[in-house]
Amino acid sequence: MPNPLMCPPEVLKQNLHGRRAIVTGANSGIGFTTAEQLAKQGASVTLACRNEAQGNARADEIRAEAPNADLEVRKLDLGDLSSVRSFVDGYLSAHDSLHLLINNAGVMNTPKGKTTDGFETQIGVNHLGHFLLTELLLDTLRNSAPSRVVMVSSCYHDKAMGREGVIELDDLHFENRTYDGWVSYAQSKLANVLHAKHLAKRLEGTGVTAVSVHPGWVRTELMRHTMPAWMQSVTRPFMRMMGMIEPWEGTQTSLYAALAPNVEDHPGAYYSQTGTYRDKSKNRGGWPLESPNPHAHDDAMAQRLYEHSRQLVGLESASAHPA
Ligand SMILES: NC(=O)c1ccc[n+]([C@@H]2O[C@H](COP(=O)([O-])OP(=O)(O)OC[C@H]3O[C@@H](n4cnc5c(N)ncnc54)[C@H](OP(=O)(O)O)[C@@H]3O)[C@@H](O)[C@H]2O)c1
Repeated sequence: MPNPLMCPPEVLKQNLHGRRAIVTGANSGIGFTTAEQLAKQGASVTLACRNEAQGNARADEIRAEAPNADLEVRKLDLGDLSSVRSFVDGYLSAHDSLHLLINNAGVMNTPKGKTTDGFETQIGVNHLGHFLLTELLLDTLRNSAPSRVVMVSSCYHDKAMGREGVIELDDLHFENRTYDGWVSYAQSKLANVLHAKHLAKRLEGTGVTAVSVHPGWVRTELMRHTMPAWMQSVTRPFMRMMGMIEPWEGTQTSLYAALAPNVEDHPGAYYSQTGTYRDKSKNRGGWPLESPNPHAHDDAMAQRLYEHSRQLVGLESASAHPA
């Protein structure tokens, strides 16, 4: 496996004082390292976590490393739209700006299940929860421009364990087809890529840049539904040899997408750490990288997904809100 891509040092030395960031799923894995680095660079960071106690414990870890870190923890359950709305209400009653929205939280290969609102778990948490969050924060992002939205997707939007990433709008929630955790994950991660692409188009000229990323194959809690923890620790040395990277390496693509100046030149683009793609020439990754999945370039599907998502999360018709 090729070496992971790393941010140029100047990106990680940028002074972020006065910049405000939200990182979803900041209590674990890539979200934690992303929040930690943004805080170390001086940003005011909201750790958006479904378990506030865990979020507070992780915030204390960051403070131990960076005593001046400006952090707050707020509860956010992306599997419950009322929680998304409460999170945004709370955030906007305390703050009037937002420069970086890192839509990082996610679940992978979960057993068949539903969110509080009846959505299939993976499309519900990975896409629809983040979709509503982003829509509700859009005015603030626009008013705070230059600002960015980073959707943490996956190379599995291309193929997840052999299943091609496809959006089945007529059966997004697996009501009329057999549930497969990898088909569902690939669908949700393709939705992240299309969401970023569509959002970038809508936000043209506003100073808000939206992109999606693949963070690499990273040692985190994400495999909890795929492999028991004991097996992960036994196989860890082999996994490293097979290309698994550490959380600090896994946060590099999110940080690059959030901070590197030239990202503004590629609105809607997909930034990839090393990965596994159907076209093996893409496995080295690229900032940005053209996805080998033809569905990731389907603008008509991106538009339909946007309209459908607005309806599902209870926002009024799409035409009332062109941007
Ligand atoms: N690790 C990889 O190899 C890899 C590869 C490609 C893409 N990614 C993407 O990277 C992102 C971060 O994952 P990770 O690898 O860092 O995994 P992780 O350690 O499992 O972290 C996932 C985070 O998402 C949160 N989350 C899950 N369901 C949520 C919900 N309903 N509401 C709010 N937060 C929720 C988790 O909170 P709890 O702790 O409460 O569960 C946790 O903080 C995901 O979007 C994943 O798809 C990871």
